[in-house]
Amino acid sequence: MEMDQLVALCKRRGFLFQSSEIYGGLNGFWDYGPLGVELKRNVREAWWRDMVTAHDDMDTPDGAPCPYEMAGLDCTIIMHPQVWKCSGHYDLFHDYMVDCRESKRRYRHDQVHGRWVEARGQRFFVATQTLGPEGQDEMQHRALKFLGLRAKNAEELAWDGPMVCLTQVDDFSNVLGPDAKTLGTLTEPREFNLMFKTIIGALGGEESAAFLRPETAQGIFVNFKNVIDSTRVKIPFGIAQMGKSFRNEITPRNFTFRSREFEQMEIEFFCHPDQGPAWYKYWRDRRYRWYVELGLAGDRLRLRDHDADELSHYSTGTADIEYAFPFMADGEFGELEGIAHRGDFDLRSHMEGKLVREGDALVVEKDEHGQPRHRGSGRDLSYFDAETKERFVPHVIEPSAGADRATLAFLCEAYCEDEVPDDKGKPTTRTFLKFHPRLAPYKAAVFPLVRKDGMPEVAREIYKQLKPRLNVFYDEKSAVGRRYRRQDEIGTPYCITVDGQTLQDGTVTIRDRDTLEQWRIPKADCAAEIQRRVLGY
Ligand code: GAP
Repeated sequence: MEMDQLVALCKRRGFLFQSSEIYGGLNGFWDYGPLGVELKRNVREAWWRDMVTAHDDMDTPDGAPCPYEMAGLDCTIIMHPQVWKCSGHYDLFHDYMVDCRESKRRYRHDQVHGRWVEARGQRFFVATQTLGPEGQDEMQHRALKFLGLRAKNAEELAWDGPMVCLTQVDDFSNVLGPDAKTLGTLTEPREFNLMFKTIIGALGGEESAAFLRPETAQGIFVNFKNVIDSTRVKIPFGIAQMGKSFRNEITPRNFTFRSREFEQMEIEFFCHPDQGPAWYKYWRDRRYRWYVELGLAGDRLRLRDHDADELSHYSTGTADIEYAFPFMADGEFGELEGIAHRGDFDLRSHMEGKLVREGDALVVEKDEHGQPRHRGSGRDLSYFDAETKERFVPHVIEPSAGADRATLAFLCEAYCEDEVPDDKGKPTTRTFLKFHPRLAPYKAAVFPLVRKDGMPEVAREIYKQLKPRLNVFYDEKSAVGRRYRRQDEIGTPYCITVDGQTLQDGTVTIRDRDTLEQWRIPKADCAAEIQRRVLGY
């Protein structure tokens, strides 16, 4: 599948629109249309149900050390600025960017790639943001143009070494920037904090500056004590939150994959330090299974453990769940979710002040006067185990997922084409979205075969029975074949058709989106049958 086909379908059928499109759009921001909003809600609801409300807290789940409880939270997007100072986001949440003096464009340093080339006595680095064979074609075209050569002179270009990231180039004086016509127009990399800043109150100045949260996780840490004190949860337990996060990404791109406003689904799981490694393993496997259960099976999905040099200074284990999105070069994967063993870093930072690593230990970062650089809350965020009489700062396992990235991966995976006969028996290409029924925006569509002979009345009756239980669609316009195609294209798993036989024996046909199989059942059983197939009960 080409990404352009999916993007076109998303716009045509109302899954996703560019934000503020009538004003020319806003880069990095996306609106979910009538079908997209249902799909994303279903992703979020599947996550909340599977991780929180339907989680069985009495038995030990497969692979877990013991039973555990889950609780939920919904925190504010703007929080006390000190939260971000102690979490490290104020000082450390930045990317490096390079600017182009010629094109006035800005790039993320680690997202520019290129190759060295030699020709006609010159050696220079041709930079691009496009990976894979398309990137190579683009580089060749630009190198020739820079040298004033034609395509037939391509053999004169002596490429030196594989494509490498700009981070591996020390001197930019011989770099041809991604949109530049001359060499050496890129500036040295500079830090750029990704948090969006705002001012609280009408009269506020810099002292009233606050930030839109760049992750939902910190709301959970700062409420850890509130949850313990207001519920009867005991360690081990998890707190889940989903909601909007904001990052002023330097180069938002790849549809919704890297947006500036997006939604996260995060769990902070609190456990005894000795049990951290076992819970880390449990969550890494549990979260991977969740994507598989909802249809991301196959070799486009993978679980990748981070190498030791990729780990944050506080983490003893991190794994990413990744998907090979169609806009990525062959062999490349994009992150859907990270699962990190964070030790006691977060709770201790909010107690004591921002922590940094010194040798093997995490210590409070001090300023030049020996004072904590960012003071913690001073609140005791330790946990007392009444049974063992032990007090400790819990360790944290964090499965942190993106709702928009998951939705995009489900859309990419669902996109299918096959060949079917049209109304006249001629083979035509059918496009269908093979969503897991739990994720499909509509669970079923109800049609009368024709708009006469009492068929619409029966079909409407069935529609009304289903509507309170499931999101279903009613359609009586145009030929039934076209109605089936329209539902296939938006991923509706079942179509129920009322036809001449219904009027005689009270049965209707059910058609399966993927197999195109059709079978008859009594119309009175329809609602229960669809519910069982979609929800599994
Ligand atoms: N609390 C940890 C945390 O926020 P992260 O890896 O920065 O970790 C977690 O983000 C998830 O949030 C990512 O795996 C991804 O799915 C999603 N995410 C992060 N930045 C995003 C962006 N700019 N656009 C869309 N989703 C994003």
